[in-house]
Amino acid sequence: MAPVATHENSEPTQAERIEALKNEAQVFNPFYSPSIGDDGDDKYEFAQFKPSFPKLSWEPLKEIEVIDRGLAADPTKKSLFSAAQKVRHLTPAIGTELLGIDLRQLSNAQKDELALLVAERGVVFFRDQELDIHGQLDLARHWGPLHKHATTPIPRNGLEEVHVVYNDSSRRPDPASFSKLELWHTDVSYEIQPPSTTSLKVITGPDVGGDTSWSSGYALYSSFSPGFQKYLEGLSAVHSAVAQADGARAAGLHVRREPIETIHPVVRVHPVTGWKSIYVNPGFTRRIVGLPKAESDAILSLLFHQISENPDFQVRFKWEKNSIAFWDNRIVTHSATFDFWPATRHALRATPHGEKPTSVADYEKQTGKVAKDRQLEIWRQQGLDVSTDGAGPTKARGYND
Ligand code: SIN
Repeated sequence: MAPVATHENSEPTQAERIEALKNEAQVFNPFYSPSIGDDGDDKYEFAQFKPSFPKLSWEPLKEIEVIDRGLAADPTKKSLFSAAQKVRHLTPAIGTELLGIDLRQLSNAQKDELALLVAERGVVFFRDQELDIHGQLDLARHWGPLHKHATTPIPRNGLEEVHVVYNDSSRRPDPASFSKLELWHTDVSYEIQPPSTTSLKVITGPDVGGDTSWSSGYALYSSFSPGFQKYLEGLSAVHSAVAQADGARAAGLHVRREPIETIHPVVRVHPVTGWKSIYVNPGFTRRIVGLPKAESDAILSLLFHQISENPDFQVRFKWEKNSIAFWDNRIVTHSATFDFWPATRHALRATPHGEKPTSVADYEKQTGKVAKDRQLEIWRQQGLDVSTDGAGPTKARGYND
């Protein structure tokens, strides 16, 4: 806290107290205020990928055509799985690790199957990948036109489609400045066509710490009673870029595209799996349209707390150098961990646009298909009759030890 100026032999004035409090209020939330830290080490092997904030200005994004490659995939994912030494599911709800695959060697069929696997499992991990950022961008482009972020850093070498994640010893995130809940987000969900199969590769990481967690929107939907699911299916919510733009400006940075607010359905249907997923996140979703504020706040609070607190929906990944994660931003929320200071954590993200989020009613009208509850589908495939035996998602279950 900045020292409060005092007059000789007198208490600080009210104005002086307020001035001091303003200084104290200047804390940076690492999520809304991009990292401007730089330890000054230009000999660092990935110095060309350190953050830069060029004064570029971009037009608002317009609607673009996106063809989902997962629709072309072989549902058995034969090409991808037969190339892997091991396919390891990390939790029942979310997360799969593939071992023994070199992402530089993927055929187009395998890329399509990877998109499908990510759509089903939410997030898929690989380790020890030599794929460089150009290969990572090419892979992302296979899945959709690339997004350019309006506020977060791009690398010094000018690759505008890369989102740089960088923290080093020069900047210590203040854990008192943000709640862990508000770090949970789906990337840029305020865009008209938010991202689909997004990838992040860690090029430098701490020995311990800096893990990322993901939470499944399919599992969150499945966890609710049928009446509440139906209620949520009729709702839409506002997603806002304003806090992120304000955070960038507060850090003295240039905003490359003016912030927007967009309304998306609270339950969206994944165009490839046909499964219903809850699409709100603490980072960017501000209110549910047309509801009394108290009701909107209560519903969003329930959903946000379930996303961030319910371990049944989550997977947590411990990165190593050259680990890469692919997640489907349409159906998962994620949160990084800021526990590794003073170590450096440096990662590069490639972010393809997906389709405009589709509500359950629109999906069913457009495709003539019935949108599905993922958990019920899986239980049906296992031969369980979840409609009559009371073992469905509404039955209370508890654990005692
Ligand atoms: C992101 O939000 O895309 C980055 C996540 C991370 O740093 O682990």
